[in-house]
Amino acid sequence: MARCIVTRKLPFDALERLRAAHDVEVWRGAMPPAPDELRELAAGAEGILSMLTDAIDRELIDACPDLRAVANLAVGTDNIDVEYARSRGIAVGNTPGVLTETSADLAFALLLAVARRIVESAESVRRGEWWTWEPAGWLGYDVHGATLGIVGPGKIGEAVARRGAGFGMRVLRTGREPGPGRVPLGELLAESDFVSLHCPLTPETRGLIDEGALMTMKQSAFLINTARGEVVDTEALRRALESGWIAGAGLDVTDPEPLPGYHPLLGAPNLTVVPHIGSASHATRGRMAAMAVDNLLAGLAGEPMPSPID
Ligand code: GLV
Ligand code: GLV
Repeated sequence: MARCIVTRKLPFDALERLRAAHDVEVWRGAMPPAPDELRELAAGAEGILSMLTDAIDRELIDACPDLRAVANLAVGTDNIDVEYARSRGIAVGNTPGVLTETSADLAFALLLAVARRIVESAESVRRGEWWTWEPAGWLGYDVHGATLGIVGPGKIGEAVARRGAGFGMRVLRTGREPGPGRVPLGELLAESDFVSLHCPLTPETRGLIDEGALMTMKQSAFLINTARGEVVDTEALRRALESGWIAGAGLDVTDPEPLPGYHPLLGAPNLTVVPHIGSASHATRGRMAAMAVDNLLAGLAGEPMPSPID
């Protein structure tokens, strides 16, 4: 039996398999452990089942001399210093694949919501402001026939591209290799009616959508971010929305995250923000938990993880 910690309550069957094999301690807080609380919890642990809200950085790793395996309940791994973990012989795994379609559904839901003003018009009905049908009321933008620009080379972006094609959109993609619909980022930004971000957060993508990128977009275009908040320069996005450089934005991720209710970005017009719910379906979160547990069990057994980070 190895000592494992799970950094949030995980109400899925998979946790029972971990409990059956190991000595499991679960962080009971409603909020994630602060860095010092995480260090205290993890000291002496051989395995960690971590969330994207936990920084598994050099300091944490150094505080856990017995650590052998980290299983992240996410496809993104920017919360983990993977290189340092690897240098210490710690196996690291994530949950790719199982959340692809669910995350693509959410990205497309945000796209439809901002294009057709679903959230703001629904809120006005709840406020009792549906006085009448109006010829020029709540006008939005068509999704069918529009150009969708996918930024990022991965599975989720491709799944969103398929949804776009199903809605009769023309799809552009960034990417190093030439291929159908592949264009440089500047061209994609200038031509797309909807720019949807699907790249991991890396030093190259941090701040990728800055003032210059937002100014390159059409004034009638929308930005959709379901990747990581730090890919977009928040202050530049606030200015872009307030000054009408773009028509609107739909965000599932923000910088900072969570976005406090008093944050200046939330005062900007034509913005819909949801609280990082991309993979949040009953079925997918259950599958992610199962995959994270499988990764941790394998890592602790000294076997290759089914989904290692490569
Ligand atoms: C969600 O953002 C994930 O990385 O799984
Ligand atoms: C809309 O509901 C219409 O009938 O035009």
